[in-house]
Amino acid sequence: MTIENTSPDAVRPQVSIHGLQKSFGGLRAVKHVDLNIYSGEVLAIVGDNGAGKSTLIKMLAGVVVPDEGEIQIRGEKVEINNPNDARELGIETLYQELGLVDTFNVPENIFLGRELTTTKFGVPVMDHKEMKRRTQELLERIDVQLPSLDRPVRSYSGGQRQAIAISRLLIEDVNLIIMDEPMAALGIDESSKVLRLITNLRDKGEAIVVISHNLDHVFSVADKVAVMKNGALVDVVSTDEVGHDELVTMIVSGKPHKRDQAPN
Ligand SMILES: Nc1ncnc2c1ncn2[C@@H]1O[C@H](COP(=O)(O)OP(=O)(O)OP(=O)(O)O)[C@@H](O)[C@H]1O
Ligand SMILES: [Mg+2]
Repeated sequence: MTIENTSPDAVRPQVSIHGLQKSFGGLRAVKHVDLNIYSGEVLAIVGDNGAGKSTLIKMLAGVVVPDEGEIQIRGEKVEINNPNDARELGIETLYQELGLVDTFNVPENIFLGRELTTTKFGVPVMDHKEMKRRTQELLERIDVQLPSLDRPVRSYSGGQRQAIAISRLLIEDVNLIIMDEPMAALGIDESSKVLRLITNLRDKGEAIVVISHNLDHVFSVADKVAVMKNGALVDVVSTDEVGHDELVTMIVSGKPHKRDQAPN
């Protein structure tokens, strides 16, 4: 089924997916999914275990290569054959294992894999001062407050570590931020801080996709929800147009939301 996630203001999607498919052997993990993702919006992807959520976002992240279909950024077809392609296209993904190095401090983690260097007596060395300066600038820009930047990141709380991992996605220009279960390991307080950071990034105009099993989180953070079942996209609904129970029904039944008018 083709369901268009159309925005009332008819702006061009930041990222669009057209007929994306992936099978693993005989199993069709993602079946012909069409989806639009807009700047300044949080799109949540929900569905039962094995619905195909992670496989879908892994195709955007270059971890899984689609069998069929097309991905476009602002209307231009892009080729994403590996994670590096995705990163170069400004598609940044946060996985559940945050990939922080516990013994490194905040700037060292933010710049992990893209360290800044300078030369001292003709020898290239890491530019700690500049990395710290740019880290401070970044954290200020996205309103993340940390007590200090110099401590090893293992000494921060779960929510602060999550914020550091999210900040890292933004050190370069991004087109799309993808998060797979970003609140999964966090307590209530920490979750609400991360949810606030996500809405804050949304308000600054980022396009954000969040996978979550927690529908309270989905309702508090998402503008739209894409429901998947057995690899297929069931429907895309606005969080204003459905309630908690209706969303659960869609996830379980795999039936689209009943509307007065058919979606166009
Ligand atoms: N690399 C793989 N090889 C074989 N099968 C896979 C592979 N990755 C995913 N699958 C299968 O594809 C289907 C979709 O999996 P996927 O991980 O996308 O689901 P999900 O919606 O993210 O589930 P969950 O909520 O449990 O994370 C599942 O049946 C899964 O077993
Ligand atoms: Mg998953």
